[in-house]
Amino acid sequence: MVRRAFCPRTGKPADKTGRLEGPVTRDSTYLGIDLGTSGLRALLMAADGTPIAAAEAHYQAAHPRSGWSEQDPAEWTRALDSAVAELRATQAKAFARLAGIGVSGHMHGAVCLDDSGAVLRPCILWNDTRSFAEAAELDSAAQVRALSGNIVFPGFTAPKLMWMARHEPEIFARVATVVLPAAYLNFWLTGDRVGDFSDASGTSWLDVGARDWSPLLLAASGMTAAQMPRLVEGSQAAGSLRRDLAAAWGLTGPVTVAGGGGDNAVAACGAGALAEGDGFLSLGTSGVVLVARDSFSPRPETAVHSFCHAVPGRWYQMGVMLAATDSLNWLSRQLGKSPAELTRALGPSIGAPGRIRFLPYLSGERTPHNDSAIRGAFLNLDVADGPEDLTRAVLEGVAFALRDSVEALRAAGAQIERLMAIGGGSQSPYWVELCATLFGIPLDLPEKSEFGAALGAARLAQCAATGAAPEEIMTKPAVARTVAPRADLVQAYGDAWNRWRAIYPTVKELP
Ligand code: XUL
Repeated sequence: MVRRAFCPRTGKPADKTGRLEGPVTRDSTYLGIDLGTSGLRALLMAADGTPIAAAEAHYQAAHPRSGWSEQDPAEWTRALDSAVAELRATQAKAFARLAGIGVSGHMHGAVCLDDSGAVLRPCILWNDTRSFAEAAELDSAAQVRALSGNIVFPGFTAPKLMWMARHEPEIFARVATVVLPAAYLNFWLTGDRVGDFSDASGTSWLDVGARDWSPLLLAASGMTAAQMPRLVEGSQAAGSLRRDLAAAWGLTGPVTVAGGGGDNAVAACGAGALAEGDGFLSLGTSGVVLVARDSFSPRPETAVHSFCHAVPGRWYQMGVMLAATDSLNWLSRQLGKSPAELTRALGPSIGAPGRIRFLPYLSGERTPHNDSAIRGAFLNLDVADGPEDLTRAVLEGVAFALRDSVEALRAAGAQIERLMAIGGGSQSPYWVELCATLFGIPLDLPEKSEFGAALGAARLAQCAATGAAPEEIMTKPAVARTVAPRADLVQAYGDAWNRWRAIYPTVKELP
């Protein structure tokens, strides 16, 4: 048994910042938990970073009223139990060598605990908009944007607690601690109320530059520091797996639980996006452009999120557009053809920009408009237009909106020289070339492998258990193909984006 800290990949001694909880060997394994909105994925990773096996369990969000979105944290622990049972059944030997666990969680959700640690009400999720009025109120309060570095979006945590104080005062009065979803799993795993800075950044209670709870921000929404969990870096130890749980899972050695983090920061750990300017374009349900930063350089007026990274001394910024593949999925439902059929019909390569304009604001928009009321639109339709024209317009509209995010990030000082393209939409060569041309940068398509939040969480676990430096563990996936911008079309698409941008202010004024 080796008991000193070393980097399991390189064999070099680890830095001294991490905590070694127990016997960590070159055979140790690490569990990355990706607690998502529709399900939980648990990935078992070997010490050399290779994925061993993954297991999933699904659950749903409840929508008891329009705009509400809630989940019972007991569903998450049930899902974790079932994923662990599957991994133990199929990977008994590897699971028995578990040395660390890391959790990635959907952000912004409020899990309210009483003194005894009991959950007081279902978690109000990131996509719940009931507290839009409280968000606007807090957003306009003095110093709030300056300290938190961000707009207070309706989905953020602080306005949810303001809403509870007004609408559920009996429950609010019993709130001993508010934890985010990932920190709730930390609590369940360790018995300690511990969260990490990356996730805490999305509460509107954290001084994101100072990496500490802000007494002023807490007071602005009627909360106190005593109601907040202790914070650690995502790659540092939050605690040890409870003995009773370890015994139930058949584990004999001590297991370190990492601080973990918010899903986007942890996905960046999985994709090796740590250094200044490293980042990705994610064409998922929502579209995200994320860039890692060495310093805190907030620009809340652009509606860019500026959050702590899940590793020490780093931050990240991201633009979020709400309906990326969601826009294409919507069109696919209307036309009765699959998204893949629709995009295939356009061929692999782009031509000149289309005439039809599409505003992808089917669920409102975050970056750059921070407008939850705006809705989508098609403009310039012609009697001759058919499915291909509409598909081209939708892909362009989403790519134009993502260019808005890229420009917002550039305005915040990010040098974006290339990005990795990930998410379901990156399977369309047409869409990727369109984005590369609009952003004016090459986009790298990773080889098919693990590089998401579950891997990022396992990597955080490994750092926390071994004390290894995140830079050594969080490497980038191999690149299968790089898509260059089409030099012949950069100008034409730049002009089209400028014309498209002029539409939003007009549509916003419509009744
Ligand atoms: C980030 C955000 C989402 C959620 C759900 O600000 O709202 O990424 O974390 O995935």
